[in-house]
Amino acid sequence: MTTPSRLLWFLSLVGLALVGLARSECTWVDHQGPRPNSTWREYDTAKVGRASNKGWQFLPTTDVCQADLLRNFTVTSDGLTLPIYMTSDVDYSRVTRAVVVIAGKNRDTWSYFNLMRNARNLAAATFDSVSTETVAVLSPMFMTVADKEAGAPIASDLIWDGDNWSTGRFASLPENTTAESTASFDVLDVLLANIASKYPTIRQVVVAGHSMGAQMISRFSVLRNSGQAGESTTTSYFIANPGSWLWLEEGRPFPDPGCQGFDTYKYGLNESIPAYAKREFRSLGRNGTVTRAIGRRLNLLVGQNDNGRGDIRCQALTQGHTHKERGYMFKGSVTNITGSYPAAWTFDEVPGCTHNDKCMFQANISMQRLFIDENPPPPSPVKESSDPHPALFDLTDAPSSGEGEGGDDSGQSHDGPEVAEAEPYPSNQPQAPDSPKADLPQADGGVAALPSSQTPSTSAPSAGEPRRRLANQSGGGGPSILPWLF
Ligand SMILES: *[C@@H]1O[C@H](CO)[C@@H](O)[C@H](O)[C@H]1NC(C)=O
Ligand SMILES: *[C@@H]1O[C@H](CO)[C@@H](O)[C@H](O)[C@H]1NC(C)=O
Ligand SMILES: *[C@@H]1O[C@H](CO)[C@@H](O)[C@H](O)[C@H]1NC(C)=O
Ligand SMILES: *[C@@H]1O[C@H](CO)[C@@H](O)[C@H](O)[C@H]1NC(C)=O
Ligand SMILES: *[C@@H]1O[C@H](CO)[C@@H](O)[C@H](O)[C@H]1NC(C)=O
Ligand SMILES: *[C@@H]1O[C@H](CO)[C@@H](O)[C@H](O)[C@H]1NC(C)=O
Ligand SMILES: *[C@@H]1O[C@H](CO)[C@@H](O)[C@H](O)[C@H]1NC(C)=O
Ligand SMILES: *[C@@H]1O[C@H](CO)[C@@H](O)[C@H](O)[C@H]1NC(C)=O
Ligand SMILES: *[C@@H]1O[C@H](CO)[C@@H](O)[C@H](O)[C@H]1NC(C)=O
Repeated sequence: MTTPSRLLWFLSLVGLALVGLARSECTWVDHQGPRPNSTWREYDTAKVGRASNKGWQFLPTTDVCQADLLRNFTVTSDGLTLPIYMTSDVDYSRVTRAVVVIAGKNRDTWSYFNLMRNARNLAAATFDSVSTETVAVLSPMFMTVADKEAGAPIASDLIWDGDNWSTGRFASLPENTTAESTASFDVLDVLLANIASKYPTIRQVVVAGHSMGAQMISRFSVLRNSGQAGESTTTSYFIANPGSWLWLEEGRPFPDPGCQGFDTYKYGLNESIPAYAKREFRSLGRNGTVTRAIGRRLNLLVGQNDNGRGDIRCQALTQGHTHKERGYMFKGSVTNITGSYPAAWTFDEVPGCTHNDKCMFQANISMQRLFIDENPPPPSPVKESSDPHPALFDLTDAPSSGEGEGGDDSGQSHDGPEVAEAEPYPSNQPQAPDSPKADLPQADGGVAALPSSQTPSTSAPSAGEPRRRLANQSGGGGPSILPWLF
C-alpha cells in the first residue's frame, strides 16, 4: 500500500470506530433547526413506551446521548427518590454552571435534557466564553400516578397526582411515607442545595422551563423559601412561554368579574398557597412576597410568534389571550407595581419562535441567559431578608375554589403542534373543598394535621399545629440533604 492509501485506510478505521462508539452509547435523530444548517440532534421519544393513560412505561437510559440517569437521588430522610438525567461529559470538580431544566406537561424529561444539552453544545460552538466541560445540565423527572400505572417508577419514587408537581404541591405516593409532606418545590430545593454544596467551583445555577415547566419556575421563583444555599447570589429563573403566570398584583389586564378564583393560586396569590410556602407567605405578606420576587433574578421570555392560547380557562384569559400577550401583560403588571421593570429581571422576545421549546432554547438571546449571564456579586455579605423569627405555626387557607388544573398547554413542542391540547375549562364555579390529603400542614412522619377550623378568615393559630419542616432539616419525616454522588 502506498502511504496515502494506508492513511485513508487508517482514517476510515478510526471513522468506523467513532461511529461504532457513538452508536453503542446513544442514538440521534437529526432535525433541521429553525436556523439554516443548524445541527440539532433529538432523542426519538416515540421509542419510549407510553400507555393509553399517557403514562410512561419506562425511562430511557443508555441511548440518551451524553446522559446518566441517576436512580438513587434521595430526596427525603425515609429514602424517597426521583430520577435525574444529568450530563455524563462534564468534570464535576470543574463545573462553574448548572442548568436545571424542567420538562413540560408530557414529562418527557429525557427530551428536555437532550434539548438543553443541544443548546449547551450550540452555545459552546457559538460563544467563546461557553465550554461544554464546565456546564452541567440536570433534569429531574416529576412522575405522576399515570406513570406509576404504566410502569416507569421504582417503588421509592415520589409520585404526584396529575399536574400537581407543576404547582409545588405535595406528592401523593408512595403510601405511608413522607411523600404527602414532600412538595415538588422541596425536591428543587434539595437538588439545588446539593448542586451548591457538591460542585466546588459552581458560580451560577439556572432553573429553566418552557410551557408547563416554565409555569413551575414562575411559581417557584416567587414562592421559593428564603435562605436557601446560594439563592440570592447564584440562582436565576428562566421562564419561557408559560401557559399562565403566578400574577403578583390583584388586578388583571383583562378583568372578568364573573371569573371565580382568577386570583387564586396557581393564577394568583389571594388564597390556596401551597403548604410548602405558607409559613413564609404568612410572615412576608403578599407585598413582602412580591418584593422578594422582584429582588430575584427572573428571565422572562416570550416567543415572537407564540400566539397559541394554551390555557383557555377564564383565570388564564384575565392575564391575556395568548402566551405572548400574557408575557407582555405580566411585564406590564410588574412595571405597574414598582414603577419600573425590576432591575434584576430581563424580558426578551425571541425572534421567529412559536410555542416551540427547541426554537426558544437555541436562540442567541436564550443561550446568553442560559449559559453566559451571571448574577452580579452581592454588594456586601448581608443576610437574606427572611423573617428571622418565623411563625411557629402555619395557618391554613380555606378550601378554595380549586386550582383549575388540567386544561393546560403541553410542554412538548419538538416538532409537535404549536398549540397543545387544551382541555375545556371544567367550570369556573368553586369546586368541592380539597380532600383531607390536600396541602395542609403535616405532622412529622407525614400524617396530615387537619386543623379543626378551615374557615376563610381563620386567623388564630392553633397551638398544636406543627411548623413546617424546612427542606434542609434532617431527621424526622421531611425532605433533607443526604449525601449522594453525582
Ligand atoms: C447550508 O448547507 C448547504 C449545503 O451544504 C449550503 O449550500 C448552504 O450554503 C448552507 N447554508 C448556510 C447558511 O450555511
Ligand atoms: C398504609 O397504612 C394503612 C393504615 O395503616 C394500611 O392499611 C395500608 O395497608 C398501608 N399501605 C401500604 C402500601 O403499606
Ligand atoms: C438550613 O436553612 C437555614 C435557614 O433557612 C439556615 O440557617 C441553615 O444554615 C441551613 N442549614 C444547612 C445545613 O444548610
Ligand atoms: C380573595 O379571597 C377572599 C376569600 O378568602 C375573597 O373574598 C376575595 O374576593 C378574593 N379576592 C380576589 C381578588 O380574588
Ligand atoms: C401593598 O402594596 C400596595 C401597593 O404598593 C399598597 O397600596 C398596600 O398598602 C400594601 N399593603 C400592605 C399590607 O402593606
Ligand atoms: C398598568 O396600569 C395602567 C394604568 O392603571 C393600566 O391601564 C394597565 O392595564 C396596567 N397594565 C397591566 C398589564 O395591568
Ligand atoms: C448568534 O450569535 C453569533 C455570535 O455572536 C452570530 O455569529 C450569529 O449570527 C447570531 N445568530 C443570529 C441568528 O443572530
Ligand atoms: C392536587 O392538589 C390539590 C390541592 O392540594 C388537590 O385538591 C388535588 O386533589 C390534587 N390532585 C389533582 C389531580 O389535582
Ligand atoms: C448513585 O449511583 C451512582 C451510579 O449509578 C453511584 O456512583 C453512586 O455512588 C450512587 N450514590 C449513592 C449515594 O448511592
